[in-house]
Amino acid sequence: MLPLSLSEHIAEVFFTAEELDAINRRLGEQITKDYQGKNLCVVGVLKGSLMFMADLIRYIDVPCEIDFLSVSSYGNGTTSSGEVRIIKDLDGPLQDKDLLVVEDILDSGITLSFLLETLSARHPRSIRLCTLLDKPARRRVAIKPDYVGAEVEDQFIVGYGLDFAQKYRNLPYIGVLRPEIYEEI
Ligand code: IMP
Ligand code: MG
Repeated sequence: MLPLSLSEHIAEVFFTAEELDAINRRLGEQITKDYQGKNLCVVGVLKGSLMFMADLIRYIDVPCEIDFLSVSSYGNGTTSSGEVRIIKDLDGPLQDKDLLVVEDILDSGITLSFLLETLSARHPRSIRLCTLLDKPARRRVAIKPDYVGAEVEDQFIVGYGLDFAQKYRNLPYIGVLRPEIYEEI
């Protein structure tokens, strides 16, 4: 039987809520400097970016719009099928916008390189990528994010928006699950 309390599912904490807040502050201040006088539109990649984006934009001190899109995901496993589709699209045209695409974690790079290509084809004024976490060890396509919160090792992590089989997104910090939980799926 799995324990009932969410925190008891976690074997090790990688980023506490305080560490995540410090990362958001640093990124928000940098973005604020870089987007002076621009027409910033922060684009969240659902669902993983929800907590990161909500906290990050509080540290962005320039006027901005927000929008969301959703792409096909990993399914229930811990590795990507390599196929990406837009499931929910942005609301309108992008011609006059400086897009900042916000992602929870950059892994193989397939999702963000697909989004970069697809959104660039709609001719926004500019487009940049911001990821809370970067797992460079598993990269399959070359892509360099403009803003990175932190680098992580090749390990499957959950919490603060990141899921395993659609669960654990509501954990207010990031950690690794107890091994028996990954084995259940
Ligand atoms: P990529 O296309 O392989 O770069 O995949 C990025 C997506 O995979 C992220 O948006 C996450 O949804 C998911 N992902 C990659 N690594 C992890 C992880 O360690 N935990 C949870 N989700 C992950
Ligand atoms: Mg994601």
